[in-house]
This record gives sequence, C-alpha cells and structure tokens, in this order.
Amino acid sequence: MKTMSLPLVLLTHTLPADWIASLDGRVRALTGPLDATRLAPELEARLAEAEGLFCLLTIPVQKDLLDRAPRLRVVSNMAVGVDNVDVAECTRRGIPVGNTPGVLTDATADLTMALLLAAARRLPESARDARAGRWKTWSPAGWLGADLRGATLGIVGMGKIGRAVAERARGFGMKIVYTDPAPSADAPGEFLPLDELLRVSDFVSLHCPLTAETRGLMNESAFRKMKPTAILVNAARGPVVDTAALTRALADGQIAAAALDVTDPEPLPPEHPLYALPNCLIVPHIGSATHGTRRRMAEMACENLLAGLEGRRLPFCVNPEVYEKT
Ligand code: GLV
Repeated sequence: MKTMSLPLVLLTHTLPADWIASLDGRVRALTGPLDATRLAPELEARLAEAEGLFCLLTIPVQKDLLDRAPRLRVVSNMAVGVDNVDVAECTRRGIPVGNTPGVLTDATADLTMALLLAAARRLPESARDARAGRWKTWSPAGWLGADLRGATLGIVGMGKIGRAVAERARGFGMKIVYTDPAPSADAPGEFLPLDELLRVSDFVSLHCPLTAETRGLMNESAFRKMKPTAILVNAARGPVVDTAALTRALADGQIAAAALDVTDPEPLPPEHPLYALPNCLIVPHIGSATHGTRRRMAEMACENLLAGLEGRRLPFCVNPEVYEKT
C-alpha cells in the first residue's frame, strides 16, 4: 500500500540495477526496454500519471510529450547534451531539466583522441587489409598516414570536452587553434573565426553543443575551406555535420578522412554510403561508454531525478532560471 504513494517515474530504458540503486524505495519506477529508440507504449500509456522522467538522449522530450504529462516535476537526461529536450518549454512549465556534465569529459576526450589517431594512421583500413591477407610484407610506402607532432588541431567548441582534447593533443605535440562564440582568456590555443580555423587546420574536431546555430555548421561550403589532407572528427552531435555534404567531401577527396562517433541520422542505417568509404570510420556513439563513466552518469541522473521529486534544487540543472519563477 505504501509504495502506491511513491511518485511514479518513467525510466525510458533498462539500466543495470546497481547504477540506479538510489531510486529503490523512493520511487515507483516503470522501465522501458534496453534498446528503446522511442518511448515504449507501456510508458506512453502512463504519461498522465508520471511525476518524473529519466531519459536518454535518444528520446525526444518535446511539447507533445510534455502536454501528455501534466504532473511531470522533473526531466532527468542521462547525458550532458540536452538537445533532445525542449528546455525552453520545460522552463515555461516550471519543470527543471537535469544533465550529467563533467563526468564524461575524460572518456569523451579519450575517444576523440582514439578516433583522431585511428583516422590519422588509417587503422580501420590497415586492420581490414591485414585480416584479408593483403599484408604481403613490410611495405615502405603502404598505409601511410598523417603525423600528429607539429600538426594543427582546430577545436570547434572549447568547453570542458574541447579543453580536455586540447590537453591530450598538446601531449602529442599538436598546435591548438579553436573557435567559439567568443574567445576566452584562459583557453588553451589561439582563437580563430571558423573559416580561418578550417583553412589552417590539419585536424578539425567538433565539441560544440547542437543548437540552432551549430546545426549544419559543417556543410558543403565549410568542407570547401578545409585542406584536402584534413581529417574531421565528430564526437559532439551528428547534425552539426551535413551528412550528404560530408559524404561528397570524402568521396571527392575534398578532405582526407573523417572519424565519427555521432551521425545524422543516428543510428546511420547499414546501407548508408558513408560506410562504404574507406576513409570514413564510424562508431556507435560511444564517447562516454566506459564502465565508470556510464555508472556515474546514471548516478548523477538519479540524484537529479530525486532532487526534482523531493522539491530540492537539481544538483546539475540546465535551466536554473526555472527557480527564479515564483
Ligand atoms: C552524450 O553524447 C552525452 O551528451 O552525454
């Protein structure tokens, strides 16, 4: 009987029980499937009663969903990016939105370097060739790649992750340039406008959030400004890159290679032409996918969820202005 008085929370996906143990006895949780790509119908059916939503970045939390969830008191996104959530609409309704900043910075920066190195040294192609028996001898001019020392890395978005990438890249002897809405005095590297960054960079790595301003930032005109030897890395959000323009740029040799942790659409269907290009490496949005990081993200999302349900300020809130409303 007592459990019926606990707030109903929709957890859009099944997560390891020990990651979300803090919810035990404090909420009534209704959980969606492991690989949900949309809100599961059994959860949809309970939206009207739900007081909390714990979601992943694949679930759009837009006006239509919010309209059907009038009792919602908190949206807790288990991600640092919140582009799947209509934050302004949540604010208008007085709903705090939580995210998980900081804990995934190192994991994402590490993956960025892995992608950058893999593309620079053509690991996917050379591994495929070795496995297929095309490794006949130590080939003096075979599988040649790009040097990192002395190369210029252009970072688009010098936030926490951009800075962590810069720190790693400096260890490899790279020169850092960056672009952002405005320069910041303590940023590691030289501030450049985007066009100039694209022109001078040997590697371009994207670390900006997806917003109206950054959607399609890497379009045909951007690729035309890049060096033909340049390598693009995207561990931010897929739609920052125009997929069709990237496919053409790689196929036509306008740029040398790309390494993508994120795509548009996501997942990219297996028949997509990008997979057929030997100079394109694609991994399935695994930037934060380490045991420790994903666990900590889930724990932070639980902290946000519980705070929202208990009327406390969310420890990690993307719309603190919600607390300024009377
Ligand atoms: C992952 O992409 C995140 O935003 O946390």
